[in-house]
Amino acid sequence: MPMSVTKAIFPVAGLGTRFLPATKAQPKEMLPVVDKPLIQYAVEEAYAAGVREMIFVTGRHKRPIEDHFDMTFELEVALEQAGKHELLEVVRGVKPDDMECIYVRQAQALGLGHAVLCGQRLVGNHPFAVLLADDLMVGTPPVLKQMVDQFEEWQASILAVQEVPAEQTRRYGIVAGNVVNERVVDVTQMVEKPAPEVAPSRLGVAGRYILTPGVFREIAAQPRGVGGEIQLTDGIASLLRREKVFAYRYEGRRYDCGSKEGWLEANVELALTHPQLGPGFREFLRGVKL
Ligand code: UTP
Repeated sequence: MPMSVTKAIFPVAGLGTRFLPATKAQPKEMLPVVDKPLIQYAVEEAYAAGVREMIFVTGRHKRPIEDHFDMTFELEVALEQAGKHELLEVVRGVKPDDMECIYVRQAQALGLGHAVLCGQRLVGNHPFAVLLADDLMVGTPPVLKQMVDQFEEWQASILAVQEVPAEQTRRYGIVAGNVVNERVVDVTQMVEKPAPEVAPSRLGVAGRYILTPGVFREIAAQPRGVGGEIQLTDGIASLLRREKVFAYRYEGRRYDCGSKEGWLEANVELALTHPQLGPGFREFLRGVKL
């Protein structure tokens, strides 16, 4: 029987050093872009792709994420009594009734691979998505939905990729392989943060993955990689010796909101398309002296 993707891991235990001091005492995943925290964009993307079980791998200082997806009884009563029904819908919509949120703790930030491994018992023997909320993805259909469609076709792991400038290969996991069609590459090689001279291509992995459960065993067998961390890339590189792994050039735009520049760009572009705020903000920008 073909497998479907109903579970997602959100690794949110990183330290967020690139965004200090904002991330000194609050998780970077709670940074708002326009009017929503980053993590909510990622959860909405997963929900739109059919995922209903959201597994958050958290660490210290991450309580606000749990609170955000919890019921806020006092707030709901206050909004109801004040007759603010639209806001009440906004608050209730954060966690639809058929969505389950589960939290597991990564005691030490030992790397993204290690964070994913923390979700193993909750995922079990099912395919699952991994979403890095600091990569804010805007696409129609949503990027994870595009990937789920690919997964349904190939029944194999799918990595979201994009072409990156040569001088930026050091920031990404880079994949190379055999072209299947204009959007899909059958991956034969994957390297974490290579220098441009040794990068096997310029296809960089963005923060969206659909993985088969076989990846857990591969991650667990990895020694520490680049930066002394247990790397997800190394686990996937080892998986592709046993199973097919495909890279998928997604249709859409990615904002690296783990960096200050990317976060600013996301705020400007998403504010411009916001139904209520957009027109006024456009007027404001026209008047900004550059
Ligand atoms: P990053 O490489 O962006 O690391 O992690 P970071 O610590 O969050 O941020 P910087 O680089 O210090 O600014 C990629 C993703 O993996 C998660 C992060 O939360 C982020 O979503 N992560 C990373 C973990 O959950 N645990 C880890 O041990 C490392």
